[in-house]
Amino acid sequence: MTNAIIGTWRMAAEGVELAAPDLVKGGSAADAVTRGIMAVEDNPDNISVGFGGLPNRDGVLEMDSAFMNGDDFQIGAVAGVRDIANPILVSRRLSQERVNNVLVGIGAEEYAAAQGFARKNMLTDKAQAEYTKRKAASQRGERLTPYDGHDTVGMIALDEAGTMVAGTSTSGLFMKHAGRVGDSPLAGNGFYVDSEVGGAVATGLGEDMMKRPLCFETVDLMARGLGVQDALDQAVYGFIAKLQARNGKVGEFSYVALDNRGNFAVASNVEFQFAVAVNGAAHLYLVTPLDLGQVQLRQEY
Ligand code: GLY
Repeated sequence: MTNAIIGTWRMAAEGVELAAPDLVKGGSAADAVTRGIMAVEDNPDNISVGFGGLPNRDGVLEMDSAFMNGDDFQIGAVAGVRDIANPILVSRRLSQERVNNVLVGIGAEEYAAAQGFARKNMLTDKAQAEYTKRKAASQRGERLTPYDGHDTVGMIALDEAGTMVAGTSTSGLFMKHAGRVGDSPLAGNGFYVDSEVGGAVATGLGEDMMKRPLCFETVDLMARGLGVQDALDQAVYGFIAKLQARNGKVGEFSYVALDNRGNFAVASNVEFQFAVAVNGAAHLYLVTPLDLGQVQLRQEY
């Protein structure tokens, strides 16, 4: 059997490296994704996920997250949650419920409290200072777009028993409108996994990525016989081209995918990094887009 874990951006490397040895020892994909994403959420240097994430335009940090089990398709997700130490833990617990699997705002926070999950002030002094700087620039009349720091951590794991799990966590766009929700908690758009096939997770501009469920489409194309890279390319680049033709513009799109044999793939229209460990051997890759549909991969370690 093969075990594997893959995660978006350099920030995922720490989590991938923590979780990979457990997978080698027979640990579950669910624990690997949970542990991997918690490491990213807990690190205050990551400015777009969990503790240390950058806030919305009111100076409040609101987070989105999801967890999906590829054996039974159970999904849990939260959106617009505040002051929860680890949104991925709440998403995972919600995925075990029969109903009420996706909760937003106060309802999600009440659920988390009732389940005993830790509350924490997630806004660090550094994030607060960045917000104050941005707000001052806005008051000076500089046009600001809610852009910087919107990178999501998404992870997919495959364990020795053949179970696959996907998860996401993000604080969304810096200076977003209060209550704004991106693609990360949306099944099919931000993540999808089927243990008999594979999974995909997304990071980029949620407003564009929610226009089509490319993670689901990737898995569906794999189920129809395409290899993981061909499936991802067909789903992602086909839609980017369509969006460009229809709208004349397209946001950032980056995806990683993993099949149920441990083969992985990447598609991106921006420079992007991802971390992956297959049977415990961890690597970090830099992805540079060339012409649409083609990327150059450089193994950094
Ligand atoms: N992709 C994360 C977001 O747009 O919120």
